[in-house]
Amino acid sequence: MGGKTILLLIAGVLGAYYVYTPLPDNIEEPWRLVWIGIPVKMITNLALLVEFLGIDHFVNTAMFFMSFQEVPPTSDENVTVMETTFNDVPVRVYVPTRKSEILRRGLFYVHGGGWCMGDAALFNYDFLSRRTADRLDAVVVSTNYRLAPKYHFPNQFEDVYNALRWLLRQEILEKYGIDPKRIGISGDSAGGNLAAAVTQQLIDDPDIKIKLKLQSLIYPALQTLDMDLPSYRENRDSLVLSKPLMVRLWSEYFTTDRSLEKTMFFNQHVPMESSHLLKFVNWSSLLTEKFKKGHSYYSPNHGSSELAKKYPGFLDVRAAPLLADDNKLRDLPLTYIITCQYDILRDDGLMYVTRLRNAGVQVTHNHIEDGFHGALSYNGLKIGYRIENQYMNWLSKNL
Ligand SMILES: *[C@@H]1O[C@H](CO)[C@@H](O)[C@H](O)[C@H]1NC(C)=O
Ligand SMILES: *[C@@H]1O[C@H](CO)[C@@H](O)[C@H](O)[C@H]1NC(C)=O
Repeated sequence: MGGKTILLLIAGVLGAYYVYTPLPDNIEEPWRLVWIGIPVKMITNLALLVEFLGIDHFVNTAMFFMSFQEVPPTSDENVTVMETTFNDVPVRVYVPTRKSEILRRGLFYVHGGGWCMGDAALFNYDFLSRRTADRLDAVVVSTNYRLAPKYHFPNQFEDVYNALRWLLRQEILEKYGIDPKRIGISGDSAGGNLAAAVTQQLIDDPDIKIKLKLQSLIYPALQTLDMDLPSYRENRDSLVLSKPLMVRLWSEYFTTDRSLEKTMFFNQHVPMESSHLLKFVNWSSLLTEKFKKGHSYYSPNHGSSELAKKYPGFLDVRAAPLLADDNKLRDLPLTYIITCQYDILRDDGLMYVTRLRNAGVQVTHNHIEDGFHGALSYNGLKIGYRIENQYMNWLSKNL
């Protein structure tokens, strides 16, 4: 074989590898999704290669490529956009330009990215906040927070909480013309995790008298104890968020030491003395038959106490909101949860829906049958617009 033939062969195999993406039958616009998937796969593989060669942490490579999607805080004819800090945490604030006779609604938004990546300045997040401000005639505060691997839990949580606390003060609400009775919080993925966690924390905060009217969680991550849920099994190799990537992101939230990741992957990280927590994430009792679908329940194996002593974060309710007991959940505000069928985090959201309803919290659950993780952020795809519309309609009626 000549050099050219070999090159063609390699190009063919690589091409097939990058285009080959097994998708469920009911996915809309499959070819567009495959097309979007190609650069995602390439960047992921490149980032892993760079890390394997010992050059840089995979997150740094991924962040480098993502940074090209950041946009400056540009005002348009309908929304004034500014950057400032709330309690030293950088935020972007979106204020509708038109005059308002009454106080406006307020929405505090937390972006996703696995506690390692993402930024309020990314085009998709900027666009979403801008449209939310315009459509709901609301003031949107889109917060940033420090990220792993440089910063670990609880820094992410604390940054988001500090920024939220700064907002929920009379003088700040007056400054932006926000109605203290109509403030909500939203977040997607890791942002949904942080939104759920700070909403719980706020309930008992004696310093903050102004409380949230609602929380809206978009395919949130809510627990670290069981990495063998039906949704983890069914979406193990998902293009957008696979099990190896999800476990890696979870463990990076707590430490860069990869021994935690290994035990998490095999579901051997929960120590014996914490086994009482497993009931809070027991999918066998918390999922409906539709989602249990013939899967067998195996209780996670007991892990070493050493690891849990070193990185107690994964057993902390501020990282895993599903670990809150019913007494705590009972006081949560009106809740909206989006889950997607083809999403490794689907069952986290489903279990939270069950637990909140059991505790008497009013929950609107929107399950997207043809949805996948991150679908809201794919603005070019019909599904992104569809989810956004449903989300905004709910906010518009309830905030
Ligand atoms: C501003 O609002 C008007 C009226 O709703 C709309 O037609 C226009 O497209 C909006 N501009 C931007 C930049 O979104
Ligand atoms: C989980 O729930 C199932 C069925 O409800 C039960 O048999 C099992 O003992 C539970 N396991 C744990 C660890 O709570």
